Amino acid sequence: MRVLVTGGAGYIGSVAVDSLIGAGHDVCVFDNLYMGHREAVNSAAEFVEGDLADRAQINEVMSRFQAEAVMHFASYSLVGESVEEPLKYLGDNVSNAVNLIDAALNAGVQRFILSSTANLFDDPETIPISESEKIVPGSPYGESKNIIERILKWVQETKGLRYAALRYFNAAGCTPIKGEDHTPETHLIPLVLQVALGQREKIMIFGGDYDTPDGTCVRDYIHVEDLAQAHILALEALETNETLRFNLGNGNGFSVKDVIETVREVTGHPIPAEVTDRREGDPAKLVADSSKIRRELGWQPRHTDMKSIIQSAWDWHQAHPEGYGS
Ligand code: UFG
Repeated sequence: MRVLVTGGAGYIGSVAVDSLIGAGHDVCVFDNLYMGHREAVNSAAEFVEGDLADRAQINEVMSRFQAEAVMHFASYSLVGESVEEPLKYLGDNVSNAVNLIDAALNAGVQRFILSSTANLFDDPETIPISESEKIVPGSPYGESKNIIERILKWVQETKGLRYAALRYFNAAGCTPIKGEDHTPETHLIPLVLQVALGQREKIMIFGGDYDTPDGTCVRDYIHVEDLAQAHILALEALETNETLRFNLGNGNGFSVKDVIETVREVTGHPIPAEVTDRREGDPAKLVADSSKIRRELGWQPRHTDMKSIIQSAWDWHQAHPEGYGS
């Protein structure tokens, strides 16, 4: 298929583009390089440096490329930042998605895949969290994805655009050629690896008094390659399904302290750590029940072991100590 990928120069999008191309699809990457890297774009993909705020541009690219499907990765995605700057999320994330969905409709696109988030589930009644859990966004970021999911629901019902909402838990790990390189970096695993590389003195643990076994937040870390595979399966499944919603994780919870300890094991570095205040917007525990996508689409994550996920990231960061610029 001809797939337009927004954010295809970013951490998760660039790996999905590799998987799409590996599966024989034609890809156009549309990315403003605000967070993404030109070097991360597969050379077999067309690349357009573009901004979703520019309606004319996305309309022109969508129709010229004759897109049949869209994968929408491009978005602001930091829980903590969204609490500081809510309108960047509730405004830009939402209006950019509206521009993209409008361009998709204008060009006759049939399938749309949204990168959604576990931050929809701030107050889960049941853990692991299934798709039937009530939606309580934990931050303006989570709310922006909730609003976009709601928009897609109505656009599906009124205009027939088929869509999949993939709620990622914590994307992690690297492939041998694609890694995590954000400026500034805010994510736990790359920050802990910066300590191991000698680029940072210690890791700050945000909150030690959560209602979890060791008092630090628990997350479900899922490898980017497994996320990418879920996108390929969802793309195929939209041939016969109008709406798909899946929670994507491994089903295992790891605390911040567990992650730090695993990095110590993998790298052999002592990793000094210090507990500080909680970061606003962080739910205590997010662990996915992904049995629905396993059952319905046959999704099988390959990287289920925390040590191998961190090893894959450590390999990439050692080879690219300054990120893509290395
Ligand atoms: N953390 C620290 N110290 C740090 C950085 C992070 O203790 O220096 C903690 C956070 O408080 C959190 C955990 O490590 O408890 C993971 O934090 P990340 O910033 O790596 O990831 P988040 O859980 O905040 O968010 C990520 C994505 C979101 C997505 C969410 C879904 O960035 O887009 O996973 O769970 F919504």
